Amino acid sequence: MRTHHFFGAGPSQVPLPVIERIREHLLEYESSGRSILEIGHRNPLFLKMLEQAESGILDLLELSRDTHRALFFAGGARQQFQLIPINFLCAGAPAEYLMTDYWSEQAASAAEAFGAIRRITCDITREQPGSPFADSAGPVSYRHITSNGTVNGYQLILPVVSPGCPLIADMSSDLLTRRLPDIRPDVMYAGAQKNLGCAGLSVVIGHQDALGHAASRVPFHWNYAILCDRRVPDATPPVLSIAVAAEMIRWTREEGGVGEMERRSRLKAQGVYSVIDAHADVYRTTVAIQNRSRQNVVWHMRDAATEASFIEAAVREGLTGIRGHASAGGVRVSLYNGVSMAEADDIARFMDMYASHLR
Ligand SMILES: Cc1ncc(COP(=O)(O)O)c(C=O)c1O
Repeated sequence: MRTHHFFGAGPSQVPLPVIERIREHLLEYESSGRSILEIGHRNPLFLKMLEQAESGILDLLELSRDTHRALFFAGGARQQFQLIPINFLCAGAPAEYLMTDYWSEQAASAAEAFGAIRRITCDITREQPGSPFADSAGPVSYRHITSNGTVNGYQLILPVVSPGCPLIADMSSDLLTRRLPDIRPDVMYAGAQKNLGCAGLSVVIGHQDALGHAASRVPFHWNYAILCDRRVPDATPPVLSIAVAAEMIRWTREEGGVGEMERRSRLKAQGVYSVIDAHADVYRTTVAIQNRSRQNVVWHMRDAATEASFIEAAVREGLTGIRGHASAGGVRVSLYNGVSMAEADDIARFMDMYASHLR
């Protein structure tokens, strides 16, 4: 059983009911006499699970099953960093990448290998005055945003408009935690290991018209347009990771859906940020208040030694997974859907106590 709270940035804490259902599936999947590990991808039981995962995630996002697809891929979000330009980047029309986090840079540099891109800078320490993309001089293949900065704790809150070309969002760390209308991407993608279960899977979601533009030279297994036309996977997919995603989707629906996840996210984040603001001399954040991430709360302390002893003290209290990303240091508390309100309260209380003792 779980002995501590886990606030890791991904892989993240998975709700216990999901783990329990997966344990049952490991022993026997749906009275088939076989473990989920032994279910093949042409087995009607798997096809039903895949269909339920796809329709379930579209329903949660309030996207029509008639017009949209959710495609599941073996491999994480970094794979999509390359598949996005392979599918969408056209000669003579650069793509624009909004640079808000370490992951935006990773996505932009992966795309650069396939053609021209433009980096659009963004000062995360200031409130954004409006939609971040200015009118572009010539044609643009697509515009790319990282809706939530897992590393620096910046979340795009404003509506983003992308006239004339699709808006593509890396939603790896906030898919299913917020309703879509505020950013309205045409295509979104995410690695599964934060709010959609476990590693080994990514999902690409979009309107079939937007996904259907890949050139025929794009290899079959990476070609969004071809994949959109198929319901049965050609190659063996990661059945177990898809089963976990299907159970996460079911759990999210049973818990009240994305609106409820957003409500909880707001409350969880509010609790932690209120302690940060009450002890601004101890916990230092640089992100503009309006763009503070509700998923990854990131801060620095006086020096690295203080951060290390904070993290050690937290671990002693059973509050784990809070070391900042290797590229940024500091402390990071991730409050994904699998982290309960009570757990968020526990870390906020600990932070409050720790800061009071430092004084
Ligand atoms: C926003 C974002 N994009 C992309 C990635 C990379 O994901 P993966 O490890 O699944 O390739 C991460 C991983 O943490 C992320 O947070």
